[in-house]
Order: sequence, then structure tokens, then C-alpha cells
Amino acid sequence: MRVRVLGSAAGGGFPQWNCGCANCRGLREGTVRAAARMQESVAVSADDAHWFLLNASPEIRAQIESFKPLWPRNRRDTPIAGILLNNGDLDHCLGLLSLRESHPIVVYATDTVRRGFTEGNILYKTLERFPDQVTWRPLVLGQEQPLLIGKDGDSGLAVTAVAVPGKRPLHLESSAGQTSPEDNVGLLIRDTRNGRRLAYLSAVGDWSQKVERAVAGADCVFFDGTFWSSHELNSSGVGERSAEDMAHFPLSGVDGTLSRLKQAPGRRRVLIHINNTNPILCEDSLERRAVEEAGVEVAYDGMEISL
Ligand code: MLT
Ligand code: MN
Ligand code: ZN
Repeated sequence: MRVRVLGSAAGGGFPQWNCGCANCRGLREGTVRAAARMQESVAVSADDAHWFLLNASPEIRAQIESFKPLWPRNRRDTPIAGILLNNGDLDHCLGLLSLRESHPIVVYATDTVRRGFTEGNILYKTLERFPDQVTWRPLVLGQEQPLLIGKDGDSGLAVTAVAVPGKRPLHLESSAGQTSPEDNVGLLIRDTRNGRRLAYLSAVGDWSQKVERAVAGADCVFFDGTFWSSHELNSSGVGERSAEDMAHFPLSGVDGTLSRLKQAPGRRRVLIHINNTNPILCEDSLERRAVEEAGVEVAYDGMEISL
């Protein structure tokens, strides 16, 4: 399986358009050692010809252009066989609306995430202009299913969605109805030919047994690296909400993500969905050194992993 990082930042990207935090300012002015990042999305393929995107970021057009294997091979064509959503956050879904140029697309999502995106969304009509413009394939919790090329072609990949602690997207937080285990899932992707496994956990609000098991069973883990500390937005002077309020378990602390990931050696562990305030973005920061010393990597746009 080939894994290509198209975007490694959290919602807003790095730098973020309206952010003058130390990181964003330093990046613009060239005074910090750091690289710009687009919003989180990853492409995976077992055959180098058919690709599946994990999330559809608002920067999807630039992300497709950034990676030649995603370019059309004919006058009307895409090597993108499907798009998988791990939750309904706009930084994961908004890109779908950009794929409106009359091309059929296939989206894998839980029923809850599909409804959150489609119901009452007048803009979604742009993806309903002809029958089967969008084919939704439901992700059923805990059930492995093949990722298909077209109707029934074998892509060599299979996915299992597992419920992980998280929350509904911001725009649905005040809506009626129950929260659901389908609101936020991890995506476990298995190469059916060589048996290698990727655990894609880009939004994790807490450490749970399912998270633990997903990490333990994978050859490579992409993990939520949004915040270094709980009160990072506040101490950066850009917001009030804590990491936990936003359902992003912080990296630091005795029980933080880093100490958990440190206890799972023998596999590649990569942080993704990194918020622009996070000090690990600065390549010479103490926090970055702590990540590296834990044997954990920081995703960057263009990173590739072969499994
Ligand atoms: C998140 O990752 O918590 C969301 O992307 C926040 C948001 O929707 O702005
Ligand atoms: Mn996000
Ligand atoms: Zn910033």
C-alpha cells in the first residue's frame, strides 16, 4: 500500500488566513523553521493506479494537482476511486462540493456522517444533478468491507470503521438528536495482498480500548496531533476552547498521546491534523524534539509511506 500525505494541518491550514499567532506570523515572515501545510487529507493505493482519499479537504483541488498519480489520464477521468470520511467536520467534507464538475464520485461514510452532510444542505444539490452523481457506500462500524474500483472491481484494499471518542461537527452541535458512535470513526485500511495495515485516527478525543486496539493492530498509525497542550488556543491568544472541548486529545502530559504512542513501538507512528498553534510545527522546538525522541513522526505535505 502506498500512502501519500496531501495535507497535514488541522482545519484552517498553516498558516491560517486570519491567524497571527507566533507560528503563523513566524512562517509568513520566515523567522521560524517550519513548512506550510494544507488541511488534512491522505491518498492511499494498493496498485498505484486507483486511489482512495481519506477526507476531502477544502484544498482538494490544489492537493490533486500536487500529486501526479491523481491527475486525469483522459479528457474526462479521475484516478480517485473513492473518498472516505472519518467524520463530518467541514475540513474533512467541504472538498466534496468542489468536485462538482459533473463527474460521478464514490463516498464511504457512516450513515450518520452522510446524513449530517446531505440533509437540509441546499448546496448538496450541486452533487445531485444526475442520477448516481454521488454513490454513498455506508461504513458499518466494526465490519470490514472492500474498497471497490467502480461497481465491483478489486482495489486490493479493505476498510473497517471503528468508533473512537470524538464529537459531531461544529455546525451540528446545536442540532436536535443524539450523538452517535458513528459521528467519529477511525479508518483501518488493510492491503488484502500483503496483509499490511494502516490505522488512520486523525480525530481522537480520548484514549479508549478501541483506539488502543487499532494502534496495536497496525503497521503504521496516523494519529491526531492537533494540540500539544489542553490550553494551547488560550495561551496562544487565539481562542478559548480547550483541546478536550474540541475532542482532540493533547500530545503532552503524563497520560497524553505521546506517552501512549511511545508505548507502542515497532510500527510507524505519524502525527497529522496539526493545528497551526502547535509548537511541534517548529522543527527546532523542544516539543518537536520530544516527539522525535518518542519515535514519533510529524506528517508533512508530500510525505510518503510504503507499507
Ligand atoms: C476539528 O477538528 O475539531 C474541527 O475541524 C473544528 C472545526 O470544524 O472548525
Ligand atoms: Mn479538523
Ligand atoms: Zn496560527
